[in-house]
Amino acid sequence: IKRITTSTIRDMKHRGEKISMLTAYDYSTAKILDQSGVEILLVGDSAANVFAGFETTLPITLDNMIYHASAVARGAHRAMVIADLPFGEYQGATDDAYKAAVRMMKESGVHALKMEGGEEIIDNIRKIVQSGIPVCGHLGLTPQSIYKFGDFGVRAKEDAEAQKLKADALALQEAGCFAVVLEKIPASLATEVSKSLDIPTIGIGAGNGCDGQVLVVNDMLGITQEFKPKFLRQYVNLFDEITRAAQAYVADVKSGDYPNESEQY
Ligand code: KIV
Ligand code: NA
Repeated sequence: IKRITTSTIRDMKHRGEKISMLTAYDYSTAKILDQSGVEILLVGDSAANVFAGFETTLPITLDNMIYHASAVARGAHRAMVIADLPFGEYQGATDDAYKAAVRMMKESGVHALKMEGGEEIIDNIRKIVQSGIPVCGHLGLTPQSIYKFGDFGVRAKEDAEAQKLKADALALQEAGCFAVVLEKIPASLATEVSKSLDIPTIGIGAGNGCDGQVLVVNDMLGITQEFKPKFLRQYVNLFDEITRAAQAYVADVKSGDYPNESEQY
């Protein structure tokens, strides 16, 4: 199988073929998604929420992310694997950001990194890109800045923030990013940004004008129960399915039905 690369998805944008991306945090799920035809697997720092149960993405560490990322990389044979750099690892000195990026690449085996922010981190992105590491930007609702925003509401509804987002998107492209995630912004703004950029945009809660879409896998599989934003399409209710299976198992153990003759040595 031929591996999806940054040039594959650039060509997809130019052909007008939409790009699909899902998050993954473990080997087994990565294998299923990879053979399902998803072009990009994102080892999101949303692992902090859906895997570890934290309220925000801030607590997850670089070591935690490397553990998840290496598991996903081992499960993906066709998809391009992108890993988030976690909060605190790339917003300071360029040399520190560069070292975190190199550690993630060396120790996890992923193919690219994602970082939240625009102009504020552009020098660090430029340095990492120049070292040969593909970088995906992330603008709009950037959850690592949740305490700056105050809530998880739609971003860039006001003109000043929309203008900054457009300038940031161009800056990311100029710095060498191969794609940019647009999270929870008005569809009209995301469409305008997507048209203005040569690199693909991947939207989440950013409407149909993006070049691709991403969802958190636990959300689209219906494992997550409490999180139901308007943009989320739930394709299966695994919460109910797993509940049924676990209840049936408990009942079988208690009744003595499991294990039966054919299930023992
Ligand atoms: O961590 C994550 O899951 C993400 C996507 C929602 C884009 O960054
Ligand atoms: Na993330």
